[in-house]
Amino acid sequence: MHRPRRLRKNPIVREMVAETKLSKDMFVYPYFVVPGNNVTHAIDAMPGISHFSTDTLLKDVEKGLNLGVNKIMLFGVGDEKSEDAKSAYDTNSLVPVTVRELKKQFGDDLYIVTDVCVCSYTNHGHCGIMHNDYVHNDATVELIAKMALNHSEAGADMLAPSDMMDGRVAAIREKLDGAGFENVAVMSHATKFASAYYGPFREAADCAPNKGDRKAYQMDFRNPAEALREALLDEAEGADVLMVKPGLAYLDVIAKLKQNTKLPIAVYNVSGEYSMIKAAAEKGWIDEQKVVMETMFAFARAGASIITTYHIRDIVENKWI
Ligand code: PBG
Ligand code: ZN
Repeated sequence: MHRPRRLRKNPIVREMVAETKLSKDMFVYPYFVVPGNNVTHAIDAMPGISHFSTDTLLKDVEKGLNLGVNKIMLFGVGDEKSEDAKSAYDTNSLVPVTVRELKKQFGDDLYIVTDVCVCSYTNHGHCGIMHNDYVHNDATVELIAKMALNHSEAGADMLAPSDMMDGRVAAIREKLDGAGFENVAVMSHATKFASAYYGPFREAADCAPNKGDRKAYQMDFRNPAEALREALLDEAEGADVLMVKPGLAYLDVIAKLKQNTKLPIAVYNVSGEYSMIKAAAEKGWIDEQKVVMETMFAFARAGASIITTYHIRDIVENKWI
C-alpha cells in the first residue's frame, strides 16, 4: 500500500520534504509617498498601510531595513495633475526627490523599484494621454519612457511600468540604454488585468478614472492565452522580470507563464486581496497569520519568485518567516 502519510508524520520530516520555501529575499514592499512634512496618514481601506511624506517614509524604510525588508516599490501620490501629466517626468516631483533622499541615506542597502504610470498625474485619472476619450498608445509610451528616465536619473534600481501600453518596455529600454542607464532593470506589469481588486489602491493613490474604466488597456480576465502572449511580448521587448497582477485570482496565469519563460516571475498581491484578509481577520473570522502565509506559499508554489505584498511588514515584524 502507498502511504504518503509517512512523510507527514512529524514536523521534522514535513520540513525535510517541503517542496516550496519562502525567504525574506523574495519580498517587495509598496509605499505611497505624498507631499509635505511629517505626514503619516493611515489609509482607511488598507489597515496598517499609510501615506508618508518623504521624511517619515525614510524613517519607516529604516525600520523595515532593520527587519530585512530591503526592496520597496514607490508610488507617488498628490503631485500636480494635468491633462498632459507633465509632473510625471519633472525632476522635482515627489518620486525622484524621494528616490534621491533614499539613495543618499541608504545607498545600495536599499533596492528601489518605482511604479511608472501617469494615472496619479493626469487630471482625468487614466493611465495615459486621452484622445477623444481613448488613451492614445504611442503618445503615452513617449511619456512613460520620459518618466522612466526621470526615475533612473534619480537613482531607481528597477522600474515597474504599470500602464499596459503596447511597446512601452522596448521604448523604456531604448531610452535608458541611450542615456547610460543600461543597468536599470525593468519589471513589467506584463499581464495586468482590469480588476476590481484594485479598489482600495485607487483610494490610496487617488488615481481612479473620473470617467469610464481601464478595460481598453488593462487585460480581460477571461483570456489566459492573451495573458501569455502579453507576457512573452514584454520578454521579447527586453523586460528583466515579468509580473502578474493581481495574484490570487490569477495563479493559473503564473503557473502557465512559469512553463513558458526563463525570466523571474513576480506577482503583485494587490490592495483588495490585502484588505479582504485584514477585514476578515479584524472580525476574528480567519487566522491572519495562517491565511497570509498560505497565500504567500500559493504564489511561490505557482511559480512566482518575487512577491510584492502589503503583508510583508506584518510577516517580518511577527517573525512569520
Ligand atoms: C495604476 C495602478 C493600480 C495599481 C497599481 N498601479 C491601479 C489601477 O490600475 O487602477 C493597483 C495596486 C493595488 O491594488 O495594490 N497604474
Ligand atoms: Zn496607471
